[in-house]
Parts: sequence; C-alpha cells; structure tokens
Amino acid sequence: MQQEKVIVIDFGGQYNQLVARRVRENNVYCEIYSYKTDLSKIREMNPKGIILTGGPNSVFEEDSATAPKELFEMGIPVLGLCYGAQLMMHVLGGKVDHAPEGEYGKTAMTVDDAESLVFQGVAKDSVVWMSHHDYISAVAPGFHITAHTDNCPVAAAENKEAGLYAMQYHPEVLHSEFGKEMLQNFVLKVCGCSGDWKMEDFAERTIAEIREKVGNGKVLLALSGGVDSSVAAGLLSRAIGRQLTCVFVDHGLLRKNEGDEVEAVFGEKGDFDLNFIRVNAQERYYSKLAGVTEPEQKRKIIGEEFIRVFEEEAKKIGTVDYLAQGTIYPDVVESGLGGESATIKSHHNVGGLPEYVDFKEIIEPLRNLFKDEVRKVGLHLGIPEELVMRQPFPGPGLGIRIIGEVNAEKVAIVQDADYIFREEMKKAGLNKTAGQYFAALTNMRSVGVMGDERTYDYAIALRAVNTVDFMTADVVEIPYEVLKTVTSRIINEVSHVNRVMYDITSKPPGTIEFE
Ligand code: XMP
Repeated sequence: MQQEKVIVIDFGGQYNQLVARRVRENNVYCEIYSYKTDLSKIREMNPKGIILTGGPNSVFEEDSATAPKELFEMGIPVLGLCYGAQLMMHVLGGKVDHAPEGEYGKTAMTVDDAESLVFQGVAKDSVVWMSHHDYISAVAPGFHITAHTDNCPVAAAENKEAGLYAMQYHPEVLHSEFGKEMLQNFVLKVCGCSGDWKMEDFAERTIAEIREKVGNGKVLLALSGGVDSSVAAGLLSRAIGRQLTCVFVDHGLLRKNEGDEVEAVFGEKGDFDLNFIRVNAQERYYSKLAGVTEPEQKRKIIGEEFIRVFEEEAKKIGTVDYLAQGTIYPDVVESGLGGESATIKSHHNVGGLPEYVDFKEIIEPLRNLFKDEVRKVGLHLGIPEELVMRQPFPGPGLGIRIIGEVNAEKVAIVQDADYIFREEMKKAGLNKTAGQYFAALTNMRSVGVMGDERTYDYAIALRAVNTVDFMTADVVEIPYEVLKTVTSRIINEVSHVNRVMYDITSKPPGTIEFE
C-alpha cells in the first residue's frame, strides 16, 4: 500500500522544515521538494495534500519562483502559506499588490468564516505571525475571504470546492497562537489523512532507502558518540551491516568512561553489525596541545588533528563509495543552505573533512529531522537511552572546558569532577530538566587546608544552563543542598581540587561553555 503523505513545496522560505515538522507532528509523513520539481513527479507521488511555503520573492519579479496552474487543478488539496498564498492567487487570477504597510511579527487576526474547515477549534480573534510586504488585494475567482487583519484584507481565503486554501501568515511558527490547530485541520480535515504514521516508519523506510542506494557499496562514517552520528550509525548498520565502517576517534577529551561506552554500544560486543574502528589518539592530541592556551587555537588543533587521524584511517580502508554524516536539519540551517542545496556538516570540528577522504557521494540520512525526532529514531533502533538522550557535548570536548593548557592530569581532574556532578544531578532528578551541565577546570590555584596540611590546588567551576536556541541561556537554580553535596564529594574524591564554584552567569554576557 502506498504511504499516505503530504508534500511541502519549497519556495525558499526560512520556516520550510518547520512546516514539514508540524505535519509530521500530526503523524502524517511529509517530505519537502523544490518548486522546480516536475508536475509529473508530484502526480506520481500522489500526495494527500500539498503545502506551498513562503519565500523571499515577490510574484511581480520576472524570474520569481513559481508554480504551474495545473498544480492547483489536480484535485489534490493545496495550502499556500505567505508567498505560497500570494502565488496561488496570482496564478489563479486574483490580485497581489505591494501593501501600503507591510506586517512583521505578531499581528491580531479575525476569522470571518467560522465554518472554514481550517479554522475549526480556532478562536475568532487570535494572534498570528506575519512577515510580508506584498499582500493579496483581490482573491481569485471561486475564493472567498476567511480572515483579515487591520492591514491585510485577505489574511486567509479559500475555495472549498477546489480544496484550495491560502494563509498570508505563518501557522507553522509557534507565535501563531492557533497555528498548530490550523495545520492539523488542513492535514486531517481537508486532506483527510488518517494520521497513523510514526517516526518508526521513517526509520524503516530510511533503512530500505539506504539499502537500495548503497547496493553493495562501502560506507564510511566518523562516529563521535554524539546523538546524531550514533543514530546515523544505527540506521546504516541496520541497512547495510558490515558494508559500514565507523571510525571513532578517542581524542582523550571525552567525558569519563565515554570512549568505553561508545565502544560497548557500537563495538564488537555491541548489538550493531558494523566495522568499528576505535583510534586511541589521546597521546597524540595531548602532545599537539602542549603549551597551547588560547581557546580558538585549541579548537583549531583539535579539529585539524581529527582530520589527520580520520584521513589515516580512511587511507587504510581505501576508496569508499559513500561518506555518511549525521547532519541534522538545524546544521543545514546554521550553514545557511536550506532547501535543496547540498551541505557538509559545518561543525567547527568536522568541517572540511570530505576533501581528505576518497569517496563518491555523501549520505545524510537525518538531514530533514529535528533533534527530538532524531532521538525518537535512535530509541526505535535500540540505541541506549543514556546515549540517545544525552546532553550536548562540544566536538572539542573537554579541551574547551579546561582553561589554559590541556594535559592528561588536568583532563583526569575535570573528568572526575564532571562525573560526580552528573551523578548528583541525576540523583536529584535535575538531569531531566537541566539542558546542559558540566564541570570545568579553571586555571586558578589557591591556598586551602585539608586535614593539617596546606594545599595549593585548582578550583572547579560548575555550570548548568537551560537554553532553547543556544543563543541565550539561563542558569539553572540548583538547590543549595545539591551544590553542597557535589562540592564536598569533589573536594574529597578528586585530587588537586580544593575549591568548587557555581557559575551563575547567564548567556549573554557569558557563553554556555566555560573556556
Ligand atoms: P557557547 O559556549 O558558544 O555554546 O555559548 C553554544 C553551544 O555550542 C556548543 N559549542 C560547541 N560545539 N564545537 C562544538 O561542536 C565547538 O567548538 C563548540 N563550542 C561551543 C556548546 O556546548 C553549546 O551547546
């Protein structure tokens, strides 16, 4: 049976993946295609619905992204958002003009047709997210206006018989109060989707696709032990088994026991069928980092050394057909290449990698997913929850959580302190709510007294923050009792530490990391 799906047609807007995600949240499978996709291909896919996204163009410009009239005449429901809405009107004989006043941001909207299927369960007056300078000044024949705002006579319109719906605003953005409901109404009530798709189906389907694409070719993956590369490894392993080789570089800057944990899951004794190569490059990294104190320079050295090590391993394997990467959607956005463009994970630590390795093509099975979706796939594949749910950890690892020079002794100190902190956070149940938390080793030494002895040892800094977008972060208010327990355990159990401090600086002015 053909899988029920809704397709999103990409006109270059910034929220396109968010649209797809909102559809998937209704348990309906969704894929994104460029506006250049052939109509015949779309027909062949036989989607239950089509959503046209926003985009940077104006319908008046000569070479604007456009859609053929036939797209609206296939008997498949179409929802146009922002530019997509204007385009629908423009193509079908309505009128689009430069608005006397554009609308940007939260805008009050009034629903004029409470009977509209897309406005079921939506308040008459609510806030929507607008971002436009052109507007629809007259609807196309067969359409009627279903909502307006002060500056926008056609905030929404529809031709119910033809299954065509236009929304000038962005329902996919959370600032649109009832946006989720509106998209859900379109997908379930207008398109008639059953909503029985699950993330597990994505995993199974992706596995089948990888198998077909790779054939009996060879695939190489740099496994960091982070969520994304681990889930990518899981999918590839299930798809092609030993045709996959994962190279895991232990740079000696991982958290305590982490290298062994990754090996336990993906190594010979783990549940995944693949070739696992662990490179113990600790000493190599420490000698490169000797005497280096500047954070950016440390990052650079760690990144370059990774490429060297990986390149050496890749050479031993010889030519591979594919290089796999755990790129997820936010990476695509960060690197500024949305839509169709091919991109390389722009991680500071893995950047540039493919130039060093002999391969034909890149495979990025998680490219369209958000982090929480990747985690669902990971759990489905049977990757341990500890690994799948783990907090973000920077590529350069503890290298940027040790102020000043990095060496084996300092790494051991920060690993032990961090381990205790994580253990106590877990005991207190705070691991579920705190976004990112860790211990860092300051470069400060001071006088202390332990027993009868005078000490001259390091200070550990603890940091715990919550963040939505990583651009700003709030400090977690850890109960005093937890901080006291962590402090006394660190002082008692970790040599060369005689003070522990809790950093209560938010971001900005601080950063999340402590470097
Ligand atoms: P900052 O410290 O810049 O961190 O507020 C924001 C987020 O990015 C992570 N981070 C890094 N991740 N390589 C990485 O892979 C890096 O060099 C790096 N520096 C910071 C940090 O852990 C936080 O989640």
